[in-house]
Amino acid sequence: MGSPPLANTAERYGWIAILLHWGMAALLVGLVGLGIYMVRLPDVGYDREKITLILVHKALGMSALAAALARVAWRLTNALPRFVDGLPAWQQVSALFVHLWLYALMFALPLTGWLMSSAGGYPTPIFSWLDAPDLIGPDEHLFRTLIDVHRWLGYAFAALIALHAAAALRHHLVLKDHTLRKMLPGA
Ligand code: HEM
Repeated sequence: MGSPPLANTAERYGWIAILLHWGMAALLVGLVGLGIYMVRLPDVGYDREKITLILVHKALGMSALAAALARVAWRLTNALPRFVDGLPAWQQVSALFVHLWLYALMFALPLTGWLMSSAGGYPTPIFSWLDAPDLIGPDEHLFRTLIDVHRWLGYAFAALIALHAAAALRHHLVLKDHTLRKMLPGA
């Protein structure tokens, strides 16, 4: 298969796609873990750790939104490596279906987080560089609803990421084909 070129080929993913894939994998898994951890911290009085972690979560979440835009742009303007030979049609369809949902959630999570933050009347600072503008005005009822929506989308995202990783590992370890290797830097 050879070591990766910069852009994708029909055989394998290139460096840009590989960096976007693994960088975002770490970022997104980290965001789910951080989200679940921080909301469980006690909410009594002025909890400095909780507030700091929520601000970090917001800034990283907004960075994930920017990365998702870059990733979709790269995906749409690049060759898509083909599936390994002999992959049954149902597996091709399920892979595409899972990939599509992963992309949808890559946008839905930061957007519901941003909307939630705006509806709650809270700022959305991106580290100390800039404040993202409010998407909507304060709305207590919508704020509560968006907290639930964001939570359940987060859990669905974690489940899909686990399914996607399990499928990739099955190809690598059980079927011993090139599916995972196409997304790895080695030759
Ligand atoms: C891909 C990006 C993101 C992922 C995967 C993600 C994931 C999560 C998860 C799993 C939780 C914990 C939910 C729970 O257990 O109750 C959470 C909470 C939260 N997220 Fe995100 N999030 C993302 C982006 C954002 C963004 C961009 C913002 C705001 C600008 C944001 C704001 C929040 C807030 C404020 C909470 C706490 C909600 C509460 O008070 O219960 N998130 N997030």
